[in-house]
Amino acid sequence: MSSNNNQETQEIPLVKKFPKLKALPHVKLINSPTPVEKMVKSSEILGGMNIWIKRDDLTNPKYGGNKPRKYEFVLPHIQKRKKKRILTVGGLGTNHGLANTILSRDFGIKTSLYLVDQPLTPHVKENLLCDHHYGAELNYTKDIKGNLYHLVKDLIFDWSSYYLCAGASNSVGTIGFINAGLELAEQIKKRDIPEPDKLFVAVGSMGMVIGLFIGLELAGLKTKIMGICVVDEKYNSSKLLHNLTRKTLKRLRKFDKSVPDVSKRLFERLSIDRTFFGGEYGRSTYEGLEAIEIAKNDDIELDPVYTGKAFSAMVDYCRKTPNAKNEIILYWHSKNSVDLSSIYNSVNYKDLPKEFHQFFDGTIEIDDNAVHCIKK
Ligand SMILES: Cc1ncc(COP(=O)(O)O)c(C=O)c1O
Repeated sequence: MSSNNNQETQEIPLVKKFPKLKALPHVKLINSPTPVEKMVKSSEILGGMNIWIKRDDLTNPKYGGNKPRKYEFVLPHIQKRKKKRILTVGGLGTNHGLANTILSRDFGIKTSLYLVDQPLTPHVKENLLCDHHYGAELNYTKDIKGNLYHLVKDLIFDWSSYYLCAGASNSVGTIGFINAGLELAEQIKKRDIPEPDKLFVAVGSMGMVIGLFIGLELAGLKTKIMGICVVDEKYNSSKLLHNLTRKTLKRLRKFDKSVPDVSKRLFERLSIDRTFFGGEYGRSTYEGLEAIEIAKNDDIELDPVYTGKAFSAMVDYCRKTPNAKNEIILYWHSKNSVDLSSIYNSVNYKDLPKEFHQFFDGTIEIDDNAVHCIKK
């Protein structure tokens, strides 16, 4: 498969709005627009709310969730540079790493993952088995220092490799979510969904929330974004959020000067909440586990690491905000829902590199203990 710049690219919301941006390397990976639906049961359970969901779990038939939107821009960008391997980082159970492995294969690009510790859960083990199945080279580096050492070494020795930051949240990947924000604006225009007052979304490496911010700004929507952090502040501080906004806009404005520089409005539209995090990446919260149960009533499966936390913040907001009943609330569902069980059930952990066996043979125990999130 190779990147294109044809009819499909001209029809994406971003290029419809700014036609000069058709020069951006882009390849269609998304079934778009992803559906918007009312969460009837959850709305009822929370006392007559108006809660909607953006079904980004359905972005791609091989691996859904938020990542394919970023890879629509990341993969052709890398391909243009004639790179043959992506080196990228994440927690042991990184969704980003798995998405990278699955999506880049079709472009003839290999994946090397450099993985750091996170609480061991069944989902972490499943993702590791899938990484292996889809051909990722797995490196257990334990912590960030280990990552640095191995990455620098491997990059120096292999010029055909490309380093991709955690979550594919560089100024290229973030463009995928600008397009997503404009896609939502088109759905509002078509009356598929009323214009939301609030949008709840998980924030990890920031690409999703920053892209959505820019997209909603460019569309001129009123929607306020409630970014719910799931990692430590050092990975998405205000300064980092601002930097990524500026860099992404700069990249777009290189192709089209008519794209307005909206970076100064970042914190007028976006509020960041760090109280639902649970203190450690990958650690479940009781509030997140409750959110998982609520969403099941609408046949929506959340996860405890990202989407459960974003949804739990929305539940809390509905319970504590007297005016919430009069608002349109949108929850952005960023998790993959493609069933990979036949894949991970078919892999023998002993086929993984030796240093990973400890996560399967009982040496390291499952740690899915939950904590309470910090209440405001
Ligand atoms: C399911 C899910 N939701 C949300 C996020 C956060 O997105 P971002 O890293 O762009 O902030 C991730 C990141 O890996 C994810 O896997």
